[in-house]
Amino acid sequence: MNVLIVGSGAREHAIAKALKRSSHGVDLFCVGSSHNPGIVDLATGYHVDSTTDTNVIGQYGRDHKIDWAIIGPEAPLEAGVVDALATAGIPSVGPTKQCAQIETSKSFMRWLLSRHSIPGAAQFKSCSTIEAAREWINELKGECVIKADGLMGGKGVRVSGDHFTTIDEAVAYSQECIARDGRVLIEEKLIGQEFSLMSLCDGKHLAHFPLVQDHKRAFDGDTGSNTGGMGSYSDADFSLPFLTAEDIRQARYINEQTMTAIDQETGTQYKGILYGGFMATADGVKLIEYNARFGDPESLNVLAILESDFVKLCQAVIAGTLSQDQLRMSQKATVCKYAVPKGYPDHPVKNQTIDVSTVKNPERVYYAAVDQKEDGSIVELGSRAIAVVGIGNTISEAEQAAEDEIGRIQGPLFHRKDIGTAALVGQRVAMMRKLRP
Ligand code: AMP
Ligand code: GLY
Repeated sequence: MNVLIVGSGAREHAIAKALKRSSHGVDLFCVGSSHNPGIVDLATGYHVDSTTDTNVIGQYGRDHKIDWAIIGPEAPLEAGVVDALATAGIPSVGPTKQCAQIETSKSFMRWLLSRHSIPGAAQFKSCSTIEAAREWINELKGECVIKADGLMGGKGVRVSGDHFTTIDEAVAYSQECIARDGRVLIEEKLIGQEFSLMSLCDGKHLAHFPLVQDHKRAFDGDTGSNTGGMGSYSDADFSLPFLTAEDIRQARYINEQTMTAIDQETGTQYKGILYGGFMATADGVKLIEYNARFGDPESLNVLAILESDFVKLCQAVIAGTLSQDQLRMSQKATVCKYAVPKGYPDHPVKNQTIDVSTVKNPERVYYAAVDQKEDGSIVELGSRAIAVVGIGNTISEAEQAAEDEIGRIQGPLFHRKDIGTAALVGQRVAMMRKLRP
């Protein structure tokens, strides 16, 4: 069986590892933007090219007799890579361009939720004039979040209290967005704890992965700029210590309703991963955003403890025969930490050599924004470089395993030492306890 992976980060490395563990003995092919040494090692074919060029990927699929594909990042989904592969007769684990709007257009996502009365929506308005924006910001008393509409790599969102403090600043950023995109999305600011629920979807059925919490800020104590995600954890009971069974039920229900609504609205089944970014609040679970793909780093947590055959799961997605009981995980806690270049994310060093040869368990190491040179050396490219996943019976055990491993990687890198520690997890539990009625 020939399987194509589109993308070449740590998420795609985790996907490659999970596919290679299958009893099916797949041949992997990858189209990625750089030489990911981890994927290169596992792949039969590897092609460095644009991952958003639909002609290149369609042709690559035909040339290599690909049976099916799995798409890692959002940009190829937005470009219509799944549609191009379908034209070439190749099915994908990943939504069509139209279905991927659930991630690529925040206004489509908000509109869909309200049209289908799906619970969990934050109050929002999409404003196309500065007068309308100012009025809504005033109504929210400045307690708002301003979002550019479209893919901004997590950098288009400004939150009151974090990125601005006055109403005038909120209006000024809204003006910037309107000038660029013709509109801006302004939401009420939600207070609580964020978590990710990724669900495999076959268009009719879902299989939910364990809950994971990501850490977006660059530095310890949730300070510094927003990043793609510095690390994440998940507990051995597949939940998070600050969530209730009711929170999980609500989040699952929202994903289920959304998958169905996409089908009803677009006339096309949503096949792939539906990843809800939620906030547990005093007022129940609220939806912050949808992604049309696996989370990075969250996918590393869940794929590391996946017991089921991932090839079979992907085939069930394509065939429409998925069920929750096919998704078996080992009952372990996981902590993922990213080593990133010094200066990341604002002024990262680039093209510096890093040494990964000293790690204890290469199975727990995932390559991301690195490139392997002809002499075999590995250089960092300026974005998140290497992820490690610690596995344990408790979050603390998993955290220590991750720390032990990440500390062995040499080079101009840093990582967050607080992710998964009892101190940080305890703060989150205490915050939610205080918040809940
Ligand atoms: P997004 O790109 O929509 O995921 O937003 C990026 C980050 O901004 C989220 O992970 C949250 O930390 C924060 N954020 C987004 N929307 C809200 C909201 N309505 N209330 C509070 N924080 C938010
Ligand atoms: N962990 C954030 C993302 O994958 O978008």
